Amino acid sequence: MSKIISNERLSRDFFRMRVECSNEARMGQFYMLRAWRQYPVLSRPISVFDSDGGTVSFLYKVVGRGTEIFSGLKAEDDITLLGPLGSAFPEVSGKIALVAGGAGIAPFYLATKQLKAKQLEAYPGCQVDLYLGFSDRPLLTDDYRKTADNVTVNVGGFITDEIDPAGYDHIFACGPEAMMRALYEKCKESGAAGKVYVSLENRMACGVGACLVCSCRTSGGNKKVCKDGPVFKGEAVFEL
Ligand SMILES: Cc1cc2nc3c(=O)[nH]c(=O)nc-3n(C[C@H](O)[C@H](O)[C@H](O)COP(=O)(O)OP(=O)(O)OC[C@H]3O[C@@H](n4cnc5c(N)ncnc54)[C@H](O)[C@@H]3O)c2cc1C
Ligand code: FES
Repeated sequence: MSKIISNERLSRDFFRMRVECSNEARMGQFYMLRAWRQYPVLSRPISVFDSDGGTVSFLYKVVGRGTEIFSGLKAEDDITLLGPLGSAFPEVSGKIALVAGGAGIAPFYLATKQLKAKQLEAYPGCQVDLYLGFSDRPLLTDDYRKTADNVTVNVGGFITDEIDPAGYDHIFACGPEAMMRALYEKCKESGAAGKVYVSLENRMACGVGACLVCSCRTSGGNKKVCKDGPVFKGEAVFEL
């Protein structure tokens, strides 16, 4: 059991929860969260928004019963965390674009921090640009502006219209599958397909590779999103 430090409402249906936790996570990893005994049966996977070795934060959208229960939790309440789980985004250098839509912005706060910290040690010319897409209201853009070199926000349109893939060495994406596919196709047209990594959000049950609920087809055969992913090369999932 872990203690909740805070659980603040950021907008109508988005919340940020901070929890005591000594495990440090890498960008793109997730936890299985549970704050109930019997119903709903399964824990829920949520990406790490931030992690500092003493606390872990999550940014989540209320979409159903599980996330609705999370939204009612208060400081000092208990929550069960399993993690950090899954693969991380690769530690790369150069010019990097992180492209996200909706709740897909969650893993890119820690990603920006970790990419900048690692790169500044070895490569002072590094650049991490964020492209954040929202359907109605932008969220946490001031926080993201503190970590990234440039932040481009699109509200109500297509965030994929904003990026020129040719300007980047690496492109990471997280969000609705249609958005990630559109981004991948755009990168492919400009010969940049190999630069793309995507984080998949398949439904999960166990979260640790034991049940196959999260299976996805890839060019390398069927993979478990919870254990082999959630981060995959774009080519592996969109070139079948
Ligand atoms: C690796 C991973 C990381 C994730 N990180 C985040 C995060 O950082 N923030 C966040 O808000 N959400 C994240 N999600 C999605 C989150 O797990 C689901 O929204 C949550 O499990 C829904 O639980 P619920 O009980 O509230 O809704 P349910 O009652 O289970 O479902 C309500 C509605 O949401 C849809 N839904 C449920 N799960 C998913 C899913 N995985 N993808 C698409 N639609 C879904 C259902 O089809 C249904 O229409 C992540 C998912 C994965 C697999
Ligand atoms: S959720 Fe059980 S194998 Fe991935």
